[in-house]
Amino acid sequence: MQVTSAKFKVSNTDVAKCPTDAMHEYAFIGRSNVGKSSLINMLTGKRKLAMTSATPGKTTLINHFIINDSWYIVDLPGYGYAQRSKSEREKLERIISSYILGRPQMTSLFVLVDSRHKPQKIDMEFMEWLGENGVPFAIVFTKLDKLSRTAGVANIEAYKKELLEHWEELPPIFITSSETGQGRQELLDYIEELNQLPVQTEFS
Ligand code: GTP
Ligand code: MG
Repeated sequence: MQVTSAKFKVSNTDVAKCPTDAMHEYAFIGRSNVGKSSLINMLTGKRKLAMTSATPGKTTLINHFIINDSWYIVDLPGYGYAQRSKSEREKLERIISSYILGRPQMTSLFVLVDSRHKPQKIDMEFMEWLGENGVPFAIVFTKLDKLSRTAGVANIEAYKKELLEHWEELPPIFITSSETGQGRQELLDYIEELNQLPVQTEFS
């Protein structure tokens, strides 16, 4: 799929105020600073569409972007940023979980993990929670440009092995770099495939 247009639509703290038109939407989540907003900019080819920062905790709202006037990308706040106060963290967690559990039109959630790190407890627990709640998700490895090819392959293989200790099968997996554009076409093609399905407007 080609991205011909990508525009900011709206930011919210309340899932009830998110767009109500029945369009497929794809949300990006993961630890703070993992590269969610950068990946959205890479996918859309617009460097300044989603706000990025070298300091963790940049995105604090549910941000909707409309792509090709026909589907949404959603940039979510990151989880697990230790420098935030407990009440601030809890507030963000409430925003994230109300969105994730309250959007039947979210066709897939992309869970981003930094390819440089070993599987982190917080990510594993988060994915377990998604599984318990029947949320469809895929895993996106980020920042591959920061590793040698061999180290990248080794880390991802180790990650898959660990996942298979918790899951019977692996979710779809994408390997990306927002610096080099690696994985862009694969992700867009996956979204295009899902866009062919009917949009779910309520939970079955
Ligand atoms: P929060 O909104 O704070 O949760 O962060 P985020 O997950 O949206 O991360 P963001 O896209 O703001 O990126 C965080 C930092 O990582 C920035 O300094 C980016 O330039 C850098 N970064 C993101 N993706 C990549 C990548 O693929 N390669 C490299 N080298 N740096 C990246
Ligand atoms: Mg962000």
